Amino acid sequence: MKKVIITLTLSIVVVILLWAQPKKPLATQQKKSTTTQTKKSTAVQAKAPAGAQASIERGRQTYSQVCAACHQKDGGGVPRLNPPLIKTEYVLGDKTRLIGIILKGLNQPIEIDDEEYTNPMPPQSHLTDQQIADVLTFVRNNFGNKASAVTTAEVKAVRAKT
Ligand code: HEC
Repeated sequence: MKKVIITLTLSIVVVILLWAQPKKPLATQQKKSTTTQTKKSTAVQAKAPAGAQASIERGRQTYSQVCAACHQKDGGGVPRLNPPLIKTEYVLGDKTRLIGIILKGLNQPIEIDDEEYTNPMPPQSHLTDQQIADVLTFVRNNFGNKASAVTTAEVKAVRAKT
C-alpha cells in the first residue's frame, strides 16, 4: 500500500512538472519582448529630441516653399546651375557661414563634387530668424546629412552683424 501511495505521489509530481514546463519559457519570452519594446522607444526618443523634431518639421515646409525650386526636393540640386546640399562643407560646416549664405546669398564660384557653380544665390533675408533656424536644422538633418541644430539665437546673432 505504501508503495502505491509513493508511486502515485511521484506520478502526480511528474505530471505537474510536465504541465508547468512549457509555461516557463513562454513567460520568459514575454518578458524579453517587453524589454525589447522599451529599448526601442528609448532609441526613437534619443534619435531626435522633441524640440529638434518640431523644428525639422517646420523647416521641411520652408524648404519646399523657398529652397526646393533651386536645390530640388531631394537636395540634389541641378548640375552646373544650383549646387546640391548633400554633405557639402557649407551645409555641415561652420554655422555662421551657413546662416550668412541664407541672409546675404552667395555670389562666388564654388566647386562641389567636381562641378563648378557660378550662378548667384539671392539673399533670403525676408525669412524670419525662426524660419532660417528651422530650414537649416532641416537641411543639416536631411538628405543624408547629420549635424547639430541651428537655433534662433544663432541666426539673430549673425543677422545683427550683417
Ligand atoms: C534662386 C535659386 C536659389 C534659391 C531659392 C536658394 N538657393 Fe541656395 N544656392 C543657389 C545657388 C545658385 C548657389 C551657389 C551660389 C554661388 O556659387 O555663389 C547656392 C548655394 C547654397 C549653399 C552653399 C553651397 C552648397 O551647396 O552647400 C547653401 C548651403 C544653400 N544654397 C542653401 C539654401 C537654402 C537652405 C535655401 C532656402 C532657404 C536656398 N539655398 C535657396 C541657388 C538658390
